Amino acid sequence: MVEHRPALSSNPVPIEWAGLGPELLLGLDRSGAEPLRSQLEGGLRDAIRTGRLQAGERLPSSRELARQLGVSRGLVQECYGQLFAEGYLTARVGSATRVAEIRPPAAKTRVQPASSDRPAIDFRAGVPDLASFPRDDWGWAHRESCRTAPTAAFDYGDPRGSPVLREVLAGYLRRVRAVTADPDDIVISAGFAQGLTLVLRALARDGHRRVAFEDPGYGEGETKAAAIRAGLQPVPVPVDAGGIDVGALVASGARTVVLTPAHQWPTGVVLAPERRHALVAWAHDRDATVIEDDYDAEFRYDREPVGAVQGLAPDRVVAIGTVSKSLAPAVRLGWVVCPPWLVTAVADEKRISDRGAPLLDQLTLAKLIESGRFDRHLRRMRTVYAQRRAAIAEALAEHAPNVVLTGLAAGFHAVAHLPGPAGEAAVIEAARARAVGVYGMSDCRADHATVPAQIVLGFGNLTERAIATGIASIADLLR
Ligand SMILES: Cc1ncc(COP(=O)(O)O)c(C=O)c1O
Repeated sequence: MVEHRPALSSNPVPIEWAGLGPELLLGLDRSGAEPLRSQLEGGLRDAIRTGRLQAGERLPSSRELARQLGVSRGLVQECYGQLFAEGYLTARVGSATRVAEIRPPAAKTRVQPASSDRPAIDFRAGVPDLASFPRDDWGWAHRESCRTAPTAAFDYGDPRGSPVLREVLAGYLRRVRAVTADPDDIVISAGFAQGLTLVLRALARDGHRRVAFEDPGYGEGETKAAAIRAGLQPVPVPVDAGGIDVGALVASGARTVVLTPAHQWPTGVVLAPERRHALVAWAHDRDATVIEDDYDAEFRYDREPVGAVQGLAPDRVVAIGTVSKSLAPAVRLGWVVCPPWLVTAVADEKRISDRGAPLLDQLTLAKLIESGRFDRHLRRMRTVYAQRRAAIAEALAEHAPNVVLTGLAAGFHAVAHLPGPAGEAAVIEAARARAVGVYGMSDCRADHATVPAQIVLGFGNLTERAIATGIASIADLLR
């Protein structure tokens, strides 16, 4: 998985509250010896010094604050006057009283957020076309859901998620992914990431100790960290042109494996039919659990889609899906199709974690799927991504014909094999200097090996023109 570390915003612009703004929390002790006026002054000073009230932020009018606190307006005016004199507040005639620009005395040491500088043309994998998010359809479905949901649906609900969405997903996954799905066995999660975490925690509580991951695979970030946090030891198992090496999996001693059979991340191969069967046989023999990451299965655009492994062994395979590729990562919705024996434990983890997924988002997704708008969006995006992949292949054929491109006609990443002597790191650095972001396969290898030198090219969020320009401008580095 591409590990995502977005920059945190330090929000330097004050919020311009509409109307009266939210009430300001200021406590007054009416039974204490300290006069109310000095309590109020002290409370406001503290709020400004500690940053609860930010420079430029509007204060309530003296009338409004007096009403909130149950004190006289004159008392508030005196306080404001004093703080104005001390430089904490600014006031202009006819305008609201605002917090002045002052430096808090002890500047807090903050962890510096990761830089959000992105190269102008970024072949980062794992991101769909963000501009194509179906805003109108989502907005429509959200409005309809909000209007029609029964009142009782707004209460805490089943930690597995909305029965409406689980029903719709079960039907959808049966049709589209050949998943054996009963709504009772589905748990709605915040994307694949949370789904995996819930399952790993449930398995760890059930005595699992090691979890096998594909190598190359997710890399070092959140996914492996989730396994370690759950108390499981991650074990790399090699992948070749036929997908995960099931013989090596058997030898690893793990009783859990996480894999991407429909479109291996990042090599883009499909799990060979005989290996699918061997995998299922292993799971039955060892009482093992297969966790299937079905992350971008909607986007096989060569008309040869392969069904989920889960359909072969619903009692041994947990299928996890997400809308991060089909809609957008920020929607944070996914689903876990559990074997019946695991669903209670996974639902329990979900309940403990956050008591269930947000209702309106779930109903919105259900409506989007049920109405056919989701499918219409997927059909459109399949064409878009197929054209983008073709644009990469064409640009390479024209400018760097000795670079081999591998990976199925699926999803939105492919692998470029570097034939020249330049290593991955040198290519990545030189491309960066030309404002083009490319990423090495070594990030996805358990031992970080830089040979064979390969670049993982994500093309989901790049137009054909950007792809052509990007490849043309770094072609001399690749060949
Ligand atoms: C291999 C793989 N699986 C799944 C995901 C989706 O994760 P999530 O649903 O948590 O956004 C990603 C995202 O980059 C990924 O690369």
